[in-house]
Amino acid sequence: MELEEFAKLLLRVAWIAGILPILVASVLSSSSRFHQLLSSFANRGKTFSLFTSNKFTVPQRFFLHFYVLAVVWTTLLLLITWLYALGVESATIANHLTGGESHILSRRYIVWRTVFLLLLMEVQVWRRLYETVYVFNYSPTARMHIVGYFTGLFFYTAAPLSLCSRCAPDMVKFSFHGLAEFTGKGQYEVSFLKFDWSGFVNPLMKLGWFQWIGASIFIWGWIHQCRCHAILGSLRHKEHTNEYVVPHGDWFEIVSCPHYLAEIVIYGGLLITSGGSDLTIWLLFGFVVVNLVFAATETQRWYLRKFENYPRTRGAILPFVY
Ligand SMILES: NC(=O)c1ccc[n+]([C@@H]2O[C@H](COP(=O)([O-])OP(=O)(O)OC[C@H]3O[C@@H](n4cnc5c(N)ncnc54)[C@H](OP(=O)(O)O)[C@@H]3O)[C@@H](O)[C@H]2O)c1
Repeated sequence: MELEEFAKLLLRVAWIAGILPILVASVLSSSSRFHQLLSSFANRGKTFSLFTSNKFTVPQRFFLHFYVLAVVWTTLLLLITWLYALGVESATIANHLTGGESHILSRRYIVWRTVFLLLLMEVQVWRRLYETVYVFNYSPTARMHIVGYFTGLFFYTAAPLSLCSRCAPDMVKFSFHGLAEFTGKGQYEVSFLKFDWSGFVNPLMKLGWFQWIGASIFIWGWIHQCRCHAILGSLRHKEHTNEYVVPHGDWFEIVSCPHYLAEIVIYGGLLITSGGSDLTIWLLFGFVVVNLVFAATETQRWYLRKFENYPRTRGAILPFVY
């Protein structure tokens, strides 16, 4: 097995290793020891305060680390993919002039689709970074388990990588080749920098209808998550207190965790944008779903326990279903 294939397999195994324990804990009773262990790893902030010991925990405001990592890593991958896409573009034009080759055309489509996916991810992680700094006001006592912290760091390393895993091996070769060329010849002689930069966005406009449907779903989830986060943030800013209250407005009228629901919609949008033919992206989506459904179940239980007058018609995360 080649190194690239092995790396891809490793990524898939990692997603499955993340999904399985959460699935098992979800089907077990909440009083089972395994469920409680998983809850202590996954809970944060208000739901974490159910647990008394602060051993092996970090402040919940360390969420900031996830988004700093996500922004740096996604931007780097986006830049490499975009440069690689430009390389494929010029190869396509050269082949077209000399008769053309269909596999280069399909490669070109996959690469530009990957650029588009990473662009959407970039839009998401920048907003999350902004919200973590300016919108949320994590209470000083809010904590999360160290396992949850490392899971978050893993997630924001593996998620952008999964989105580009189909062209990652070629991108790596391209980067090393480009770097060698750059150090050997200097920037004015390097072939990958000699592009018609004016036309470098045009191929993005030729993506298929799957990409535009996926992007629309992504934007729909993105807007609602932005609104729901603003509502959560305003509760803290308005009240100037660390007390929790029942949130109202937007999707909060139908579910207790609309920001988690919106996250699922966002990653569903990315899955559709990818065309749905890559198992790694399906596994990434699967992890987001099981992880957030589990977290929403814990949050719903917390709300029902904490507020006697909590609206009983509100589901945990899936409107009218769950
Ligand atoms: N892709 C993934 O797998 C994944 C995993 C985790 C999170 N996320 C995303 O990250 C975002 C944030 O997640 P999170 O778990 O940090 O959200 P959260 O626990 O709901 O907390 C968000 C902020 O709102 C405050 N808050 C929550 N409920 C409140 C209430 N009833 N009254 C007053 N303040 C309240 C929290 O305060 P406290 O700090 O005091 O609790 C915190 O400052 C979500 O949109 C989620 O989708 C994604």
